[in-house]
Amino acid sequence: MRFSIKSSAAQALRSDCVILPVLTGRKLTASGRLIDDGLAGAVSAALGRGDLGTKAGATQLVYAASAKSARVLLVSLGSDTKTGQKAFIEAVRGALRHAGTMAKGDFCSLLHDVEVDSRDLGWRIATQVTIARELGYRFEQLRSKKDDPSPRLEQLAFQVEQAQAASARRTIARAAAIANGVDLAKDLGNLPGNLCTPTYLADTARKLAREFKLKVQVLERRQMEALKMGALLSVAKGSDEPPKLIVLRYEGAAASKAPVVLVGKGITFDTGGISLKPAAEMDEMKYDMCGAASVLGTLRAVAEMKLPMNVVGLVPTCENMPSGRATRPGDIVTSMSGQTIEVLNTDAEGRLILCDALTYAERFKPSAVIDIATLTGACVIALGHHNTGLFARQDKLASDLLEAGRAMSDPCWRMPMDDEYQEQLKSPFADVANIGGRAAGAVTAACFLSRFTKAYDWAHLDIAGTAWRSGANKGSSGRPVPLLSGFLLARAGADAS
Ligand code: BES
Ligand code: MN
Ligand code: ZN
Repeated sequence: MRFSIKSSAAQALRSDCVILPVLTGRKLTASGRLIDDGLAGAVSAALGRGDLGTKAGATQLVYAASAKSARVLLVSLGSDTKTGQKAFIEAVRGALRHAGTMAKGDFCSLLHDVEVDSRDLGWRIATQVTIARELGYRFEQLRSKKDDPSPRLEQLAFQVEQAQAASARRTIARAAAIANGVDLAKDLGNLPGNLCTPTYLADTARKLAREFKLKVQVLERRQMEALKMGALLSVAKGSDEPPKLIVLRYEGAAASKAPVVLVGKGITFDTGGISLKPAAEMDEMKYDMCGAASVLGTLRAVAEMKLPMNVVGLVPTCENMPSGRATRPGDIVTSMSGQTIEVLNTDAEGRLILCDALTYAERFKPSAVIDIATLTGACVIALGHHNTGLFARQDKLASDLLEAGRAMSDPCWRMPMDDEYQEQLKSPFADVANIGGRAAGAVTAACFLSRFTKAYDWAHLDIAGTAWRSGANKGSSGRPVPLLSGFLLARAGADAS
């Protein structure tokens, strides 16, 4: 999909289809009125008929008898006097979805002329790029016969004033870089477990390293044994697929600058192990590597944006399978940190691979560590599919992540992590048990991880409810690549839009 800038005056704009916002009371923006004048009032006449719906995202196509702009696609911003973030997004989605069904051509948007509550021009342009890319995403690589190519938008221009053109171009490049990261995360998530193995994830990291000049290292089973990663290895034991620990480093600042470390759960298929999951919907456990996918996607985005900072991606990855060599419920394993863990349920495997990666993260002397994991069904019960669960010890880190989530429309919601919950993880035989009972399952999972993250500032994102959609539109969401990219952009001191 190609994005461009047009900085000719609105009256002189030439385009196969101009996309214009319509405010409450069927009013045009200032530039909309100029276009209307250039079309001899064709737009206001069409609006006067009252066909355009008032709900945000409702559209109406107007054919104008003009050589300059043959069509005008009107989109309603809803009936609030001040346009909010959500109404703007609905409008963009409605307009671009409609545009995608039309004949290919040169589309030019003026949607960003609308003032949006607390969001600047950069945000309004970036949001259109994001949504255009989201609507254009397909996962068709595994079909032998391509269906009729479903219609989609191929080209979108943004009309901006000359003075804003340079910064608008930077905004587009950043939003496209983030969309590329989202697409990578979606592709990895959607690939099935027989193809997207730990080895495949490692190869993907190596490819990224080549393309974006990142440093990559893949630790094999022997090296994990030497590091005494007994928790990670206990999960990998039941599978014939070799486990990997991927270390992917982006260096955009001096080596003395402490990095942000992102740690992603990479269970390429979660059967539950000996504590086997029920059959229904087990296919969705191919998505149990979406944390890992978001780390690779975010590193891709950061590298393409060339952010002036250091970021390390850590991906512990293996399969959770039952077999004669698999870990048994009740087995006690020793983590890299030295803490012993009673594995009461082999299906609580994510925390076992993460805890060793979190201990390994200490060697990077990080300024902050964020882990991302499809960790608990309990988080889905608590928050559903809209908000990612956020757990953090430090309030500043939590509020930065919350704000990035809001700005990027990839929201998270902070959950408690009081010490009292740690009681539930007591084991009569080991330092800690790997499950804490049914109550507050997402919280006790976070509490388990917190025991391995004492050496640095740390946050945990439970994406079990947000990483993919089920049902007819089953598919990976690419979340939380936008949240993480926005967080890192802000932290790098760059403007987040
Ligand atoms: N990958 C699952 C969590 C999950 C389940 C995410 C369903 C999304 C949808 C994780 O490994 C798991 O199985 N967790 C258990 C933990 C329990 C045994 C304490 C769960 O949530 O049931
Ligand atoms: Mn599990
Ligand atoms: Zn899992």
